[in-house]
This record gives sequence, structure tokens and C-alpha cells, in this order.
Amino acid sequence: MAGQNRIRIEVFFNEEDVLPQMESDVRRGLTSNPKFLLPKYFYDNAGSLLFEKITTLPEYYLTRTETRLISGLSDSLISTIHPTEILELGAGSSTKTLLLINKWENSPGEKIYLPFDVNLSMIEVAAKELITMHPWLWVHGIVGDFERHLHEIPICNGTRLILFLGSTIGNFTPDERINFLKKVSPLLKDNDRFLIGLDLVKDVQEIEAAYNDNQGVTEAFNKNILNVINQNLHGNFQPDLFGHSAFFNPNEQRIEMHLIASEKQQIQIQKLNLSLEMNQGESIWTESSHKFTQTQVEEMLSDSGMKLVDWFQDEEAKFALALAGSR
Ligand code: SAH
Ligand code: TRP
Repeated sequence: MAGQNRIRIEVFFNEEDVLPQMESDVRRGLTSNPKFLLPKYFYDNAGSLLFEKITTLPEYYLTRTETRLISGLSDSLISTIHPTEILELGAGSSTKTLLLINKWENSPGEKIYLPFDVNLSMIEVAAKELITMHPWLWVHGIVGDFERHLHEIPICNGTRLILFLGSTIGNFTPDERINFLKKVSPLLKDNDRFLIGLDLVKDVQEIEAAYNDNQGVTEAFNKNILNVINQNLHGNFQPDLFGHSAFFNPNEQRIEMHLIASEKQQIQIQKLNLSLEMNQGESIWTESSHKFTQTQVEEMLSDSGMKLVDWFQDEEAKFALALAGSR
């Protein structure tokens, strides 16, 4: 197919590690008190598509607001940074990034887009669409874990713009977040930039509605993590025996998302040789989504060797884009 040679996809996962890693993560999570699961396991193919659906929900103001911000800034970001490389962590469908890439053609030098994600098929689909639309573009997809593989990203000889959109940074715990940022920091040279999308602290009802949509898409997304475990580790979770719960914890400034057992039940996970009993009302904590203020963002950047260069937010202060650089 024409243009296919402008796509390269590299897999950082060692195939032999993937299953053992999942086994140990799931064992640790389900034998802890309270029980938890790691959010990266949401994103198999079905989960990635459900997330795409979340981004279009009326209650989910995040994607809409971030899209408008990026759209208004794309010209000036490209013409002030002049990136030769756009590296996107947790790229997903690359839909918002397309707004930047559309403005990139006349910028000098080579132009390579590197979508980095745990999900291979999201990268493949986006890469094919992008090179078809843009005959001057090269795509180097990377399948990996952004908590483990950032040091393996090839060095960039030109100017790099790193993107981390969708408030994915909010899904880390505060410790994980700093660890992550400390590993991003060495990827930036003097003129390189790091653009982070962040959901801001605001009215609790509006935040909670975004994680409790009327059509039940977020509920389906939340329960899909049980299917992922059933398929990969031969579990017998019955998603119907769990309820979706997502609420704002004001002390921690975060949405906490849980799956709550609706009745007492036994669960077997064959590959782990694990048998669990869950009581009615007992929860599995599946995800947190932290909300931020500008001051906190300045602090976390400075704690990890970077600095805030610019800050953009919508007029209702729902969502922000922080532009960071090295110190
Ligand atoms: N950037 C997109 C998608 C955000 S959803 C947007 O703004 O809409 C989070 C994305 O990060 C998903 O595509 C998911 O597959 C990916 N992801 C989650 N955990 C990851 C990890 N540990 N390493 C790499 N990618 C991860
Ligand atoms: N980064 C997104 C967020 O925190 C991820 C997300 C959106 C999400 N909706 C979700 C994760 C529902 C789990 C469930 O908003």
C-alpha cells in the first residue's frame, strides 16, 4: 500500500514478560485490602473503543474542552516550537493531535510523529490514517508502558514536542506521577517542550457527572477490566454481579472509580491459582482521576526537574494545557 513505508512500529514489550507482569499485578491487586486493579489493563481493543466513546459523551466535558484549547493554540505552538518530532504518550486514537499535525506541514525539517501506547491496534489505525492524509509525514509507533519504557525512546536530534493529553496524568497516584515526570524530564533538551492536558478542580457535580454518564458507557468501560482478566488469566468474573461507582474524594482531589460486588460471590482465576471470596458491597478500586490547580502543576514540574513555561485554560476554567520545558 502506498505510503506504508512511512510507518514503522516498534514493540518495547518483551512478549515473554507481558503475561507474567499482568499475573503479578492482578495477584497483588486482588489480594490487597482494599482490592485494586491497575488502569493500564482497561485498554484492550474493546476497552480502547469504549474509551473513545466516553470522549464523545455530553457529560464528559474533558475531551471537548481540551480539543477547543488545542485547536486555538495549534498554529502558535507549531510556529514557536518548530518541532521535528512529536512524541505522544498514551496517544490512543491521536484525534486531538491531528489538529497539531494539520498545522505542521510548512514547518522546516523532517517531521516524525511517535505515538506511544500500550494498545497496538490504536497506533496502527491512527498511523495509517495519518500518513494517508499527510504524504510528508513519518510515523514511528511505539508499543510500550510509559511507566517502564521511557528510557528506551530513541534520542531526537532536532526539536521534540512531547504530548500527554486527556488528563491521563491524573490517573497516576501522586508518587507514580512524580516518578513518571522524573523520567520524562531527561527526554527534554533546552528548546524541547512538554504539553500536558489537565482536568482542573471545579464544581463536584460537574466532575461526578463526567464519570457517571446516562448511557452507561463509563460503567461498561469500568466492567471491561473484568473481561480482560477473564480472557487473559482465565477468570470467571461475572461483570453483571458488580455495580459501577465513581465519586469525588475532596481530600485527595480525585474521582475514585470502583466496582462494587452486588452480592456475596466466589471468583476463581485459574492462571493465578487464586480463589477469592467477595462480600456484598466489597469494592475493587479500578481507577483514580486527580484534578489539579495551576500551583500544584508548577510544584510537580519543579519537583521533577522541569518548569512551567506557559499555561492555557478555557474561559470557564474546566481544563488546562500546561506547557513545560527543562530547567
Ligand atoms: N490521549 C488520548 C487517550 C487517553 S486514554 C486522549 O487524550 O483522548 C489513555 C491512553 O493511554 C489509552 O490510549 C491507553 O491505552 C494508554 N495507556 C494507559 N496506560 C498506559 C501505559 N502504562 N503505558 C502506555 N500507554 C498507556
Ligand atoms: N484520563 C481519563 C480521565 O481521567 C481516563 C478516563 C476517563 C477514565 N473516563 C474514565 C478512566 C472512566 C476510567 C473510567 O478522565
